[in-house]
Amino acid sequence: MKRDLISIKDLKLEEIEHIFNLTSELKAKVKDFGRSLSGRSLGLIFLKPSLRTRVSFEVGMSHLGGHTVSLTPEETKFGTREAVKDFGSVLSRYLDALVVRTFSHSELEELAGSSDIPVINGLTDLLHPCQALSDLYTIREKKGSLGGINLAFIGDGNNVAHSLLYGCAKLGVNLTVATPGKHKPKEQIFAEALELAKASGAKIVLSDDPSAAAGGADIIYTDVWTSMGQEAQCKKRTRDFQGFQVNQKLVSLAKPDCLVMHCLPAHRGEEITDEVIDGPNSIVFDQAENRMHLQKAILLFLLGGD
Ligand code: CP
Ligand code: NVA
Repeated sequence: MKRDLISIKDLKLEEIEHIFNLTSELKAKVKDFGRSLSGRSLGLIFLKPSLRTRVSFEVGMSHLGGHTVSLTPEETKFGTREAVKDFGSVLSRYLDALVVRTFSHSELEELAGSSDIPVINGLTDLLHPCQALSDLYTIREKKGSLGGINLAFIGDGNNVAHSLLYGCAKLGVNLTVATPGKHKPKEQIFAEALELAKASGAKIVLSDDPSAAAGGADIIYTDVWTSMGQEAQCKKRTRDFQGFQVNQKLVSLAKPDCLVMHCLPAHRGEEITDEVIDGPNSIVFDQAENRMHLQKAILLFLLGGD
């Protein structure tokens, strides 16, 4: 039975631990895995822009001895040029796995349901699981373990926040999501995270007070106020998020060894200042690098390489 990676919610705790351990091995011994996915093909469908996700999957696949096939948005008008299920069935005959970045989460689920090959969520309006898994790996790498870590996510209750909610709840990371009232995470996702947190003991909290959230934090995490697809609301959103900027004053409320994270791309001077993103607490580029190592582990996990 093929597996997809659509949401962190679908992964068992021991599967996440396996992916993390494999990531460390892949990172330490790049050359040892040079033929693991030899002869395998990964399709890349990006209906929104991407730098990190696309490049890290392409390079990661080549490190593993496989190759990628990129499909342009024009070639992949699934649902209009042909039915999503026909699209998925055809690609399943050529490819071994597919990474998809699209708008509608339900469309991604439909494509996964009609494909015989693993489908990896490379970001939807709702979730960004590769990002959050990689970020939690990075926190574990930097802090030694995840249990009891206090993470403050400050900004928009968006796709990245949703995937962090699932990931933190599963892995026992205490997460406070501080957003303006109108931009909270989706209620259903928050409720599911609370349910998942019962097993791990993670404290999952919503707040509208960035200073209170940052107080005593081990990690401060932020993301853009206007995600891809929301550009028309940019002016209004910029007004709504005043007071939610991650600046030096906010970082000074956290623990002295607090790490600052951002999934990137950042809008410097909006959700984060230059001083913070370029400052001593920032780990944003190590964080970006780990996307590649973690996604190689996801590919091996789903494709069972040699
Ligand atoms: N963080 C992230 O997913 O970056 P890209 O949009 O550049 O892929
Ligand atoms: N929330 C952002 C993440 C980009 C990686 C967006 O969806 O645009």
